[in-house]
Amino acid sequence: MTQIDSSTADETGTEHRMLRLTVNGDPAALVVTPYESLNSVLRDRLNLTGTKRGCDTGGCGTCTVQVDGQAIYSCMYPALRAEGRSVRTVEGLGRDGEHHPLQTALVEGGGVQCGYCTPGVLMASCALYAENPDTDADDLAEELAGNLCRCTGYVKLIEALAGAGEQMRRDGHV
Ligand code: FES
Ligand code: FES
Repeated sequence: MTQIDSSTADETGTEHRMLRLTVNGDPAALVVTPYESLNSVLRDRLNLTGTKRGCDTGGCGTCTVQVDGQAIYSCMYPALRAEGRSVRTVEGLGRDGEHHPLQTALVEGGGVQCGYCTPGVLMASCALYAENPDTDADDLAEELAGNLCRCTGYVKLIEALAGAGEQMRRDGHV
């Protein structure tokens, strides 16, 4: 990786800048162009392929990650905007080798079929619980309207996530 501290341009005139951020608690530094999305940086440069790419136009939600705790569509988020910020992906959801309760709930509750929407659903619902620990099934349904799932019909998916919320409140997880 070329290390540069300020903006430079290559022979085609394309600008390159250093991006420094934290990803799942680990510092990362790499050179990017202003055209690269956070999704591209995560998947193609940092090999964090748990975050999916679907429509690449902000219409499906499968690319959802958290930036400073907020759920965002990484395909629409310029990588350079993440400078100095904390990014969390599905790879950073579990702790100490254990799945996050939302992950366990989705698997055990039949909320995963093909799984393509799952990372985005998890990151969006996790951010929602962090913002509002009393999140209920209606809140989840509203939030996840931006995360398209072509398989589950949402019923089991929402039931599983809402059930996990009850468990997390009992366990003091949220
Ligand atoms: S890939 Fe980002 S919203 Fe579809
Ligand atoms: S489980 Fe297949 S798209 Fe949601």
